[in-house]
Parts: sequence; structure tokens; C-alpha cells
Amino acid sequence: MKELISVVNKLQDVFNQINVANTFELPQIVAIGSQSSGKSSVIESIVRRSFLPRGTGIVTRRPLVLQLVKTSPNSEQSEEWGEFSHNEEKFTDFDEICKEIEQETDFEAGENKGISDKPINLKIFSPHVVDLTLVDLPGFTKVPVGDQPGNIERQIKKLVFHYISNPNSIILAVSSANANIATSEAIKFAKVVDPEGKRTLGVLTKLDLMDKGTDATAMLKGDIISMNLGIVGVVNRSQQDIIDKKGITEQLRDEEEFFEKFYPKLAKQNGTPYLERSLSERLINHIKECLPELKKRIKDKLSHYDQVKQSYGEMIKDGDDSMLLKIINIFVYHYRKAIEGSIEYDTR
Ligand code: GDP
Ligand code: NA
Ligand code: MG
Repeated sequence: MKELISVVNKLQDVFNQINVANTFELPQIVAIGSQSSGKSSVIESIVRRSFLPRGTGIVTRRPLVLQLVKTSPNSEQSEEWGEFSHNEEKFTDFDEICKEIEQETDFEAGENKGISDKPINLKIFSPHVVDLTLVDLPGFTKVPVGDQPGNIERQIKKLVFHYISNPNSIILAVSSANANIATSEAIKFAKVVDPEGKRTLGVLTKLDLMDKGTDATAMLKGDIISMNLGIVGVVNRSQQDIIDKKGITEQLRDEEEFFEKFYPKLAKQNGTPYLERSLSERLINHIKECLPELKKRIKDKLSHYDQVKQSYGEMIKDGDDSMLLKIINIFVYHYRKAIEGSIEYDTR
């Protein structure tokens, strides 16, 4: 089934090339939440590499659209690398990816806490990821700081709304366990676009930072706010861990230990690996749900193309039209492969 997702990512590439990306709206995972709730940290854990600017205050100031591409483990190319859409460079040093994101952010949004809705597009190629597209967004905030305009709260909400109102997006509503989950901006906002919670997964961060004597059991079991797809607790790296350059492997090991020690009964349904699994499952279901509509649209495109072809007869050989033909062929090829992965689907 991972194949299916991989094919969808390929389709997305083709769509981007022929400029119909918006027409097809393929699923992607969007992290939303208050500033410093841990959105960037969660995305990094899923990717299992350190490359996103994280920290206290407003750090993420432009949308980052991140496409993970699983490569075969024995490919001759360098094991893991990143590529941006804004330049040709191939980044094998993930610290350099982080710097590039910071520079591109400053370039577009200024150096003094301003935000921009212009996305940064990054692809990470690695044998250690599942094929997913994730979007990291600026966090909700109320009070403008630095060069932020007076309406910063509205501006960020508008930006977030743009990504999550896409019915094909899966929302990661990130809340921190040391705040009141009952008033979580992330959950509130997700409910606006997804009232039944069909595509919203709750993520509870900072379980390690809760006050002594308090515990997240009620939150994790959904007794305080219940979410259709559940709430998954995670423990990300702290600010001190970032300073100490603690790696992901160590983080995941400590996280597992944390749950076994403090939440033994809930350990199996929490933590980053569990979050990753729930996400993949959600994504596959989501793609399946979208297939009929996708199929219809492709059929429409194809029949339109057939008409064009008939009216032009043999004339379509050179220039733009043969390019179009090529693209449609690639497109149909990937599409057929995609639906082969789904048994309850007829391939005609
Ligand atoms: P964002 O603004 O929502 O993207 O949040 P970041 O991922 O940048 O994290 C904000 C700060 O909280 C950083 O200093 C992180 O190290 C810290 N942080 C995030 N998650 C956790 C967590 O689960 N535990 C601890 N102790 N700190 C965390
Ligand atoms: Na932050
Ligand atoms: Mg962030």
C-alpha cells in the first residue's frame, strides 16, 4: 500500500508540471497549533532528521511544503538529501537545509519576525521515510511583535485556513500538554473545517513538561476533549536538547522509555512511531476515498483530449501537443499503477 502513496506523489509531480495541481488536490498532512506548541518538532520526528528551524517564539514564518520521497536503500546516490524548488542545489548536509530555510524565510518575510504566505518547497529523499507530504505552518499568535502587522492573528489564521480547508488535507492539531487542551486553538480551528473530525488527528506534545502531580491520562484517553481519530501523545526534544544537538534516535529511545515509565498502559497507542503509523493509515484511506473523484476528472481530461485528437487527426505530432500527449501518457501510466493497488476499484 505504500506504493499507492508513492504513486500519488509522482502524480503530484506531473500535476505540478502541467499546472493542474490545484485541480486535483492531492492529500497532504498539515500541522497546525499555537506558536511553540511543537509543530516543527513533530514534523521533524516523523521525518527522523533534524533540519527544521525550531525554538521559542515565532520561528516558522513561511509555510514549508515538505515532500518525503522514499528511495531504495541500495541506490548509488548519497543516502539522504534535500532539494528546494527555488534553487538547483542538492543538500546532503541537513544543517545546511536548516540554514537555507532560515535564509529563504528572511529573504521573503524580513529578518524581524514578519511572516509570508509564500511557501518554501522542499523535497527530502531518503530510504528511511514513508512517502508523505507535510506542511509546517506558522503558529497561532495574538499579540504582534517585531515587524508583524496589527492583524497578525487574522493573517496567520487565514494562512492556516488556506491549507486545512482543502478537504484532501489531513490535519495534525498540535497542542502542548502544559496548556489547557480544552481551549486548544489547534483543535478549535480544526473543528471549523472538519466538524466531524474525520481528517483531524490530535497530537499532544510536551508531556514531559507537565506540572508535578498532574498527568495527561485523561487528555490522552479523550476524556477532556474527544477526537474522532484520537489524540496521540509525544515527547519531542526540549530547547536544551536542541542546544545540545541531541539526535532523533536518542529522542525516540527516550520517548519510548518515557511512556513505558509514566504511561505503561497507554504506551502502545502513543509516541512518534505510533503517530507515524496512524498517519500513514489515514492517508491511505483518504487517497482511497479520493480515487473515484480523481478518476472522474482524469476521464474528463482524457475524453477531452480524445476529442482534441480526433479533431486534429494526425496533425498532433510536434510541438506542444506532442508534449501534452507525452504528459498524459505518463499521467495515465501512473494513474493505472495507482489504481492497481486498490482491489475494490475497476480499472476501466
Ligand atoms: P512550533 O513553534 O510549534 O513549531 O514549535 P517548535 O517545534 O519550534 O518547538 C518550540 C519549543 O518547544 C522548542 O524549544 C522545542 O524544543 C520545545 N518542544 C517542543 N516539543 C517539546 C516536547 O515534547 N518536550 C519538551 N520538553 N520541549 C518541546
Ligand atoms: Na516556535
Ligand atoms: Mg515551527
